[in-house]
Amino acid sequence: MTEFLVFVGFRPTSTRQFEKLWPGLSKRGLLGEVTTPTQLPDGYVHNLHEVHEVLRAEGPVHETRLPHGLKVWVVTRYDEAKTALTDPRLAKDTAELGRLLEIHAPEGRRALDESLSEHMLNMDPPGHTRLRKLVTKAFTARRVELMRPRVEEISAELIAKLNDGDVVDLLEVFAFPLPITVICELLGIPIDNREEFRDWTNRLLTFGTTEDVQAAGAAMAGFLYQHVSKVQAAEPDDTFFSALVHATESGDRLSTEELVSMAFLLLVAGHETTVNLIGNAVFQLLKNPGQLQILKDKPELIAASAEEFLRLEGPINHATFRYTKEPVELGGVTVPADEIVVVSLASANRDPERYENPDQLDVTRSAQGHVAFGHGIHFCLGAPLARLEFDVAMTQLLARFPNLALAAEPTTLTWRDSTLIHGLHTLPVRLA
Ligand code: HEM
Repeated sequence: MTEFLVFVGFRPTSTRQFEKLWPGLSKRGLLGEVTTPTQLPDGYVHNLHEVHEVLRAEGPVHETRLPHGLKVWVVTRYDEAKTALTDPRLAKDTAELGRLLEIHAPEGRRALDESLSEHMLNMDPPGHTRLRKLVTKAFTARRVELMRPRVEEISAELIAKLNDGDVVDLLEVFAFPLPITVICELLGIPIDNREEFRDWTNRLLTFGTTEDVQAAGAAMAGFLYQHVSKVQAAEPDDTFFSALVHATESGDRLSTEELVSMAFLLLVAGHETTVNLIGNAVFQLLKNPGQLQILKDKPELIAASAEEFLRLEGPINHATFRYTKEPVELGGVTVPADEIVVVSLASANRDPERYENPDQLDVTRSAQGHVAFGHGIHFCLGAPLARLEFDVAMTQLLARFPNLALAAEPTTLTWRDSTLIHGLHTLPVRLA
């Protein structure tokens, strides 16, 4: 038994050790006795950091079942996370991953519309290299900085609608509309459709029935096909998406399917993440008045503080699924071939071996090197845009509402039912 536990990443342990790390753990029934694979608790997303702390202390890599039953190997420590994200033996090819999801998920795979899956985040080189090259130029820090005046305008318009004394859901009125407006403008998509997008992506990313996920995927794909066809038929102009649709590289051009998938990826990645970066950061600040005061006193620190919020409470729990093409040894643990691996970015970013007092918010710390944007060839393409949106949003919000306060007990706020996205359902605040 001991050998087996060492093989899958657990050092021999006892419930007492778990108890020391997390008093009441076994009483809460969150992990219970160590079994293989360990079933992550239903309450995992609501106790993300506590569960990670226990797993991380036990070992770098764990054979587990996610709450909805999928068997995966979770990487929890910083060094192993970075190694895994750059190891070419951990692959992403959609077809192969689909086959493995069918094997490892107890109730089969939650199929996503195929036309949404052919994007670079689901590909290995050379397909990934080709697609990434076509969009990279539009997302450099220099190009993105040119968007600042427009991002400031959108943010200011949203803030102008808010009044002192009002109690609002900050996600609803500010953190959500800002990034979705920016990404829709980039893709040339009418903003009237944004509520539909929110509904579709929410259903695609949270636990739902297969039918629900498929219906949301089909609706999204249908809309994006129409949009791409319209842009293809129109005269090229200098907008980002038109340029992408009409771009050619040495006679190569994106197919309609690739454009639909690319638009889908940019839409989902472009707002589901940033909304929660802003939301999680405001939540953290309102729970830590001393830290909030530092940023109010020195707003010039806001831009750099993005890294600390990404590290401490980043919007993505784990990187997207990878699978082992052959047995891969990670931190002394051998993951067999044909296994699904998830790298927990949230856990790696709180690894005490990498960051001192990792659970504490310190807006002045140098949090560089965090893996909230991933690492390696799939490193977030939109990182400069996310950083810009964060800077503008937080600067304007704190300047206009310096006495912003939570309008609910922090413990009553709940996290969205997704192992991928780490964001609150609502963030009730009193504007002042
Ligand atoms: C705070 C905000 C954001 C966070 C935390 C974030 C995080 C990530 C992470 C962790 C990955 C890599 C996933 C993996 O390796 O499995 C990724 C990839 C990606 N992100 Fe972001 N993202 C954010 C905002 C954005 C924005 C605003 C955009 C686009 C406008 C964007 C577009 C992309 C794209 C296209 C990829 C795929 C890159 C590739 O496969 O080469 N992201 N992001």
